[in-house]
Amino acid sequence: MNSAAIDRFPFSPFPIGWYWVEFSENVKSGKLYSKQWLGQSLVYWRDSNNKVCVADSTCPHLGANLSPNRGGSLRDGLLVCPFHGYCYDASGLCVKTPAGPPTHKLSLNTYSTRETGGVIYAWWHPEESSPQWDIPDFDEGNWSNLVYDSRVIHTHPQETAENGVDLTHLPYVHGYSQVESLGPLEVEGPLLQNRFTLTRRLGPSNKLCVTLRVSAVVSMWGLGVSTIEPTMEEAGLYIRQLALCTPIDGSRVNFVMAMQMKDIESPNALVPGLSMVPKRALNAWLLRIFFNVYRKDISQDFEIWENKKYLIYPRVGPDERPIVRFRRYCQQFYADSPESVT
Ligand code: FES
Ligand SMILES: [Fe+2]
Repeated sequence: MNSAAIDRFPFSPFPIGWYWVEFSENVKSGKLYSKQWLGQSLVYWRDSNNKVCVADSTCPHLGANLSPNRGGSLRDGLLVCPFHGYCYDASGLCVKTPAGPPTHKLSLNTYSTRETGGVIYAWWHPEESSPQWDIPDFDEGNWSNLVYDSRVIHTHPQETAENGVDLTHLPYVHGYSQVESLGPLEVEGPLLQNRFTLTRRLGPSNKLCVTLRVSAVVSMWGLGVSTIEPTMEEAGLYIRQLALCTPIDGSRVNFVMAMQMKDIESPNALVPGLSMVPKRALNAWLLRIFFNVYRKDISQDFEIWENKKYLIYPRVGPDERPIVRFRRYCQQFYADSPESVT
């Protein structure tokens, strides 16, 4: 573990929970992939039955590296080790060797996976316990495909998640106005929700812009998986933003921003005359515009996240109590905390 990370945050860089591994469309059947994920070197692939396997890249036989750039390969849906040719199926089990069936039981160190809404997630726990909660079925509802982007930044998932309860930075950093909380944080085990409304001006200049009054719900299923769902009811506009924060090692995270949208119901309520635009083109165009706004908004946080110090005793004001409540919620995700989910 990186000692800079230990010095910077008074908690583990790897909270218990679900984390983004990859987007479904980027994991093709018959191809082997690797990446650095929560301080581990991973391999992952999809077999011919569409089952995804996410595993450590170390062969349990004699420790060879199974990554594709170190000689690991896929043959007939099985992962083949470059050292003695043992073959592993998508459950991680060694099912054959060049000399025939394995003479003893061997398994890759695999991670529980969940594929939903176009994203592959894997479960991480320091003691390798099985998942203690699920993430929702993001496949439900008529949502568009995801558009996405990512950035590697020096921070911690707790810091990026804290943004979702920090309403007072929204006007100052992002330029929103009339930000109003719709009630206290709702916490139920690993699920935290925060509801608020805000006004957002969109356009190239103050004169040439539309003013949107939106209500938003931030939902977190642990510190690695959050959604922000802005809604503008009168236009029938429903957007889902994913904020997926996956530690790479002890000091860096991969911060993934993704967005999908439902087809807009009343475009004229957004901008008069918009319903003249053909529906398909309009929805694709709006998704692109809103995604660029989301990406720009989040990028305003990056520099602050990278350079801020985590204060154990922040001097928050009375209207910032949700930050304190959020930090209490976070304790369940650290194995050494008395409130841990273990
Ligand atoms: S080290 Fe992988 S088969 Fe021997
Ligand atoms: Fe922010």
